Amino acid sequence: MRDLSDDLLDWYDVHARQMPWRVSPADKKAGMRPDPYAVWMSEIMLQQTTVAAVTAYFQRFMARWPTVADLAAAQDADVMGEWAGLGYYARARNLLKCARAVVADHGGAFPADHAALLNLPGIGPYTAAAISSIAFDLPFTVVDGNVERVMARLHDEHTLLPGAKPTLTAQAEALTPQARPGDYAQAVMDLGATICTPRNPACGICPWRAPCLARARGTAPALPKKTPKKAKPIRHGTVYLAQRSDGAWLLETRPDSGLLGGMLGWPGSDWVDASAPRPTAPPMDAAWTQLPGEVRHTFTHFHLILDVMVAQVPMSAPGTFLPRDRFRPSDLPTVMRKAFDLAQK
Ligand code: ADE
Repeated sequence: MRDLSDDLLDWYDVHARQMPWRVSPADKKAGMRPDPYAVWMSEIMLQQTTVAAVTAYFQRFMARWPTVADLAAAQDADVMGEWAGLGYYARARNLLKCARAVVADHGGAFPADHAALLNLPGIGPYTAAAISSIAFDLPFTVVDGNVERVMARLHDEHTLLPGAKPTLTAQAEALTPQARPGDYAQAVMDLGATICTPRNPACGICPWRAPCLARARGTAPALPKKTPKKAKPIRHGTVYLAQRSDGAWLLETRPDSGLLGGMLGWPGSDWVDASAPRPTAPPMDAAWTQLPGEVRHTFTHFHLILDVMVAQVPMSAPGTFLPRDRFRPSDLPTVMRKAFDLAQK
């Protein structure tokens, strides 16, 4: 008997999106296998981030560090700088820790074992399932936002997310085939990204249009239902851009823990609730002037508004200055890059 997964895999054989970490269904049939290092790298990058945003980063990382051993031997600052702009920087710190653990504990090869993968830094249930299925074709089920949407519609499930997650996960597991689980995982994601889209799903060309309960009942565009998100609070802070007469910039590497941990940044104040007075914390005495305008940036849990102060300081100024020719603005996380861009105006 044909399963639902067969219809989806037939569709995937024709419509799989090309991605630089993927092996196409045709190449797989010819015997090619995905590189587990590339699968892991892409899955870490794709957490909370779109395929469009990830592609260029993925290619730069793979060109600079072609193997997990190369990455394990990299300087922390180089990896954090290359990651700058992708956000969720704990992922980059864990990326390095994981690469070093794969070299130290697994001989430089990602283990084809779900439990061993789960033990590695930065690899949670989602990523362990993704690597197990996509890289090693083990029958694990990947559940991301696309998969949740597809399952909610296929089964016309109206329970609110995140409460509905266990139900949707069980439904996705029940459909996962023993053969080609990696292609199946990516097929559901592609279906969610290209046909079963959040708005205006293209139900008429969906390989699952016949069994889809939401299509039959006209509820697809309203699913999945989600608990409304709380409004994000606004915080304020101040950053200080000091440039020495030789062009060097006063920059700091932020502490490993906390927001933007391990990233390069301008010294600055704490970020406090907007109802408190605007905080100041200049790193040194100088003729600070405030730039017109402000930096606005949104993090997962709050909006941030930064005042930007600038000063020219003498060669004798205290602190760690990064020489002009070693400073790459692209090494800055986006919020710090915005402050730099404001100062260049
Ligand atoms: N999102 C996360 N992993 C993915 C993959 N392998 N293909 C498409 N979208 C994804």
